[in-house]
Amino acid sequence: MRLANKVAVITGAGSGIGRASAYVFAREGARVAVADMNDAGGKETVDAIRADGGEAIFIHTDVSKAPEVKNLVKATMEKFGKVDIFFNNAGTVEGLSLCEAMEEAAWDYLYAVDVKSIFFSVKYAAPEMRKTGGGVIINTASNSVNNPTPGMSCYISSKGAVIALTRVLAVELAPDNIRVNCVSPSLTDTAMVKYVKQDPAMAEWLKTMVSRIPLGQRLVKPEEIALAALYLASDEASMTSGINLIVDGASGL
Ligand SMILES: NC(=O)c1ccc[n+]([C@@H]2O[C@H](COP(=O)([O-])OP(=O)(O)OC[C@H]3O[C@@H](n4cnc5c(N)ncnc54)[C@H](O)[C@@H]3O)[C@@H](O)[C@H]2O)c1
Repeated sequence: MRLANKVAVITGAGSGIGRASAYVFAREGARVAVADMNDAGGKETVDAIRADGGEAIFIHTDVSKAPEVKNLVKATMEKFGKVDIFFNNAGTVEGLSLCEAMEEAAWDYLYAVDVKSIFFSVKYAAPEMRKTGGGVIINTASNSVNNPTPGMSCYISSKGAVIALTRVLAVELAPDNIRVNCVSPSLTDTAMVKYVKQDPAMAEWLKTMVSRIPLGQRLVKPEEIALAALYLASDEASMTSGINLIVDGASGL
């Protein structure tokens, strides 16, 4: 098993890519702290892992709030005694619109969920990783950074920040044997894409985008991102830090 004896925290694990990652990590032997602000989704993920013979707990967390991320690390330590892997996967597209029409509160919230949460994870999880001789932080960016799209300024710029932050953290934390990488999904079949589809113009845009994906003209499956994250989380990636692993079906999208 590729994550035997490891403890992994996964944010946004109540749905989509986070949930798929929780399943894959647990199957590979990790004990998983499932963090989400959606309690029902988080608990479903935990129930499924337990039903499959794995070990998991749910910890209600709003990753945009420092005290809640602090509590997430504390609760994981209390239950499992260490944090080897912290997967900053939670993200949001709520409140997106053309830049000049964006509400300031929506802009701040999106940046807090997508970017500031990574700062919180470092602040609270890195000291615990240091105590056990190292660890792994994985951040979720997005390949949308390579595809300027009207109405997505806040989201795309936040994901650009995630990639830049990942590279700096990889250097800052290397002396502590903490590897920091990000994964950049292209269009992936999750609730987030369903949300985007609610807008008829975006639904049309999505159809065109999918038709341009050379590998199968289909959306990426959440499990395909989870397996990329698994590689980064595992000891197989022991010399890999500061990278952005793009999973896009050769589309560049
Ligand atoms: N689906 C795609 O096409 C796609 C493409 C590129 C990147 N991504 C990124 O992948 C990540 C996972 O998204 P997904 O596609 O699985 O979407 P999803 O909507 O299925 O899952 C996102 C999860 O994050 C949780 N979440 C949102 N805000 C939170 C907060 N403040 N605190 C804690 N949890 C919170 C939600 O409750 C949900 O369970 C996100 O970072 C997203 O930006 C997705």
